[in-house]
Amino acid sequence: MTRKYENKDNDSLTESKVEEPLFDNIVNPIVNHQIICDDSLKTLKKISDKKFDLIITSPPYNLGKSYETKTKIEKYLQTQEQIIIELIRTLSDKGNLCWQVGNYVDKGEVYPLDIFYYQIFKKYGLKLRNRIIWHFGHGLHASNRFSGRYETILWFSKTDDYIFNLDDVRVRAKYPGKRYYKGPKKGLISGNPLGKNPSDIWEILEQDWDKAIWNIPNVKSNHPEKTEHPCQFPIELVERCVLALTNENSWVLDPFSGVGSTVVAAIKNNRNAIGIEKEKEYCNIAEQRIKSLKEGELKVRPINKPIHTPTGKEKITQIPIEWKNLKSVKG
Ligand SMILES: C[S@@+](CC[C@H](N)C(=O)[O-])C[C@H]1O[C@@H](n2cnc3c(N)ncnc32)[C@H](O)[C@@H]1O
Repeated sequence: MTRKYENKDNDSLTESKVEEPLFDNIVNPIVNHQIICDDSLKTLKKISDKKFDLIITSPPYNLGKSYETKTKIEKYLQTQEQIIIELIRTLSDKGNLCWQVGNYVDKGEVYPLDIFYYQIFKKYGLKLRNRIIWHFGHGLHASNRFSGRYETILWFSKTDDYIFNLDDVRVRAKYPGKRYYKGPKKGLISGNPLGKNPSDIWEILEQDWDKAIWNIPNVKSNHPEKTEHPCQFPIELVERCVLALTNENSWVLDPFSGVGSTVVAAIKNNRNAIGIEKEKEYCNIAEQRIKSLKEGELKVRPINKPIHTPTGKEKITQIPIEWKNLKSVKG
């Protein structure tokens, strides 16, 4: 989009000229992108200082997924710290870093990874701007603790002069017709025509309710973006960060890029992007997704698509007949 915005957190009216792109979803040929199929630390050492305006990733959580070997949390964090040092070196002075994590769980004990990571980033001088809660409505049902329904994104900047394009990510206000009811502005519209600040709680669905029955927390089987990867990012989630925290032609990095969701989100929005991923299978899927994007064939859940709310009339929202006579049924 050819919009110019200032760094300000202001919901009142701002002037902006919006010119819609001629082609949505088709990658600008001058945009650079690369999936590097190798170890992150080794690759980062070859990248020049201050190259990236945004580093966004979901690192391995040390949970023993197919692509990782579970180790003690201290050892895991030491390894990650070596990578973080290189990431900070390659981040530009106006740059932002988004670190998306959930919990590490050992013998039923929960370790919120963002608490551990915060200390590391702080040690190297980064400044936290938001701890974003990525909330999702459904997921696995726990039996020994409350079911987990959110993960977090730590958004840090390198300096106080950082890129932040709030107007590019505003969302529709719930009550756009609201007016000041007293004071000198009485009667005037109180909101911003571009929408409201999306806040630090993000309800980004990974599943399209128009086509499927369940609301699923991560990109899982019914989601239009689903690939072989066990925990890929919804592209919509990365797009919000890319639009808010970089400018057109910025460079974006994902040092644990999996099936390339970050690279797709970046190049779709005219940003240059590098993804580093050690598993060949995921690199191949990433390349395939980029190709499909360029051909206009990649299925992507549109950014800010409203979340479907069941009306209560749907069959799956009704108490099943088998439970009708149970006294303890919630309904
Ligand atoms: C949580 S997943 C990220 C998924 C990604 N956000 C996506 O949308 O596909 C972490 C990824 O990091 C990769 N990985 C783990 N250690 C790595 C390393 N040292 N170098 C490069 N990639 C690594 C894993 O193979 C895995 O695909």
